[in-house]
Amino acid sequence: MKKLGILLSGRGSNFESIARAVQEGTIAAEISLVLSNRCEARGIVRAKEMGFKALCIPSQGRQREEYDREVVKVLKDHKVDLVCMAGFLRILSPYFIQAFPNRILNIHPSLLPAFPGLDVQRQALEWGVKFSGCTVHIADETLDGGPILRQAVVPVLDDDTEGTLSLRILREEHRIYPEAIRLMVEDRIRTEGRRVIEVKKEGEGPKKV
Ligand code: GRF
Repeated sequence: MKKLGILLSGRGSNFESIARAVQEGTIAAEISLVLSNRCEARGIVRAKEMGFKALCIPSQGRQREEYDREVVKVLKDHKVDLVCMAGFLRILSPYFIQAFPNRILNIHPSLLPAFPGLDVQRQALEWGVKFSGCTVHIADETLDGGPILRQAVVPVLDDDTEGTLSLRILREEHRIYPEAIRLMVEDRIRTEGRRVIEVKKEGEGPKKV
């Protein structure tokens, strides 16, 4: 069974949605490790409560690559196949990316390539877009720039605040991130340049007539 390593820095609601999908058997994988760079993160507390192996390796004051080497070692020691960033507020070094080629996913609360980076929902409101959403992508060496696996769209309403928009997007995050992980775990994607194409299972897709 494939092994997942979850990286987080905060609340951990995406981690919880992944954990539920694993526990329900929707994702046929196990979570070998939940790792946070912030020891006070709610997500790491929840991971322990839920009975997962949870570790904190504080990143404050550490050089990026030196820190990443330690995290990669821990992930490899736990035989992690797929790394899932779930609100992990760090940019990964090339060393990290190369240690798990095409095996690191990230979720971002906008329709990339619009609004990469931080304070994304505020950026969307200030820009005045009428739709926003979320994106699951493969992490590469660019900021929020890797190939896209899944996206979901939500409307931006006239009376939205950062809070209401974030919540509407978050509900979709909790739906599409487990779906994307499932595709990876089942080896059901292939790439053509930047395009990630879903390989249908036997019996899926349009019927031949
Ligand atoms: C989510 O909005 C995710 O898209 C972004 O950080 C937030 C993490 O939320 N990368 P949570 O910690 O999973 O609740």
